[in-house]
Amino acid sequence: MSIDLLITGIGDLCRMGEGTGPQRGVDQSDVGFVANAALALKDGVVQFAGLQNEVVAKAGPAARVIDVGGRTILPGWVDAHTHLLFAGTREDEFALRVAGATYEEIAARGGGIHASVRRFRETPDDALLAMARKNLDLALSLGTTTIEVKSGYGLSAEEELRALRLIATLKTAHPIDIVPTFLGAHEIPAEWREDRSGYVRAITEDMLPRIAREGLAEFCDVFCERGVFTPEESRTILERARSLGLGLKLHADEFGDTGGGRLAASLRVTSADHLHGTVNELVPELARAGVIAVLLPGTAFFLGLARQAPARAMIEANVAVAVATDMNPGSSMSQSMPLMTTLACLNLHLSPEEALVAGTVNGAAAVGRADRVGRLRPGFRADFQVLDLSSHRLLPYHYGVSHVRAVFRSGRQVWGPEFS
Ligand code: NIG
Ligand code: FE
Repeated sequence: MSIDLLITGIGDLCRMGEGTGPQRGVDQSDVGFVANAALALKDGVVQFAGLQNEVVAKAGPAARVIDVGGRTILPGWVDAHTHLLFAGTREDEFALRVAGATYEEIAARGGGIHASVRRFRETPDDALLAMARKNLDLALSLGTTTIEVKSGYGLSAEEELRALRLIATLKTAHPIDIVPTFLGAHEIPAEWREDRSGYVRAITEDMLPRIAREGLAEFCDVFCERGVFTPEESRTILERARSLGLGLKLHADEFGDTGGGRLAASLRVTSADHLHGTVNELVPELARAGVIAVLLPGTAFFLGLARQAPARAMIEANVAVAVATDMNPGSSMSQSMPLMTTLACLNLHLSPEEALVAGTVNGAAAVGRADRVGRLRPGFRADFQVLDLSSHRLLPYHYGVSHVRAVFRSGRQVWGPEFS
């Protein structure tokens, strides 16, 4: 076997834990750290990862060698929750919130998601694509190599299908690997206000079958919350999605213990996301159901939510905890996974190592890819970031700036100046 690319001089390599599933409990802190390491790649896949002497001996001659001069290498981030395809920005609402209005008050006045839906519907494809590409470029520059992107600003069959087709276009045209999720149940659109069950039927009888037929989404998600979709409506939509072969996700307990977490456990969804308001008593149920908790500390920070998700109780109960950005124009306008690790440490009390696993391996598990990405072990896709840091422990600590020197996707450098 001839190696295409050998990366040497890695001061700190985080291979992450062994295995092909999420890392839970005490394993959540296993970053598979090796000092003085090397990585050997072939056809975009990791062949060997470990001590430099051993990797070099096993790999034999390589077509190309890059010495990274003692820098740190981590897997690329897997951002498992974003609403990154949108039109327009909502800095006006930001100013209102700074002055004291709440996110829910602004939504009730026709702002929030409704404002983004109006903008989305009137914006042509090329403008939406240009803005999404810019947002993806920023994510890539911060080390993200896999990202989940939800529809949910169209809220009609035509507009939701348009959103998912645009996401499919982005997937072919950008180095970041994109996981498409259908979120037609993001809000009840204004024209269906008086007939909620009619809108739920439009999702289950029209949108979902068409999306499944065209293979436009891997997951279906629902915003289950007071004033949005009830647990019963959410169950109807998710059961239909499951019967059509889609994976399930749920926006649950964002603003309180409103039944979403309980529904997520009972449906054994792949991931329950937000969970800021989830009560400790529910945590063992999530563990038993094997649900991955996708926590979004940027949203709690940006909205000034009073409660944080019970992350420590989750890790102690063997719930796999992932951390993602929730990137969207209303509740978390950032695609910075490094910032999320800092917030996960300070506000969710994850250790730096637990936060790194949350942003890689467990993010991959939340998008059904834990057997392929999120780790730098033999057989995994060579998606990684080279950081201008001497230790992975510096990353959540030295916050608010980027340390990314280069990003590789499938063994190819896709960001940062070429190495000489
Ligand atoms: O995850 N919770 C629902 N959706 C987003 C907000 C979307 C928006 O405000 O545009 C969220 O917080
Ligand atoms: Fe969200």
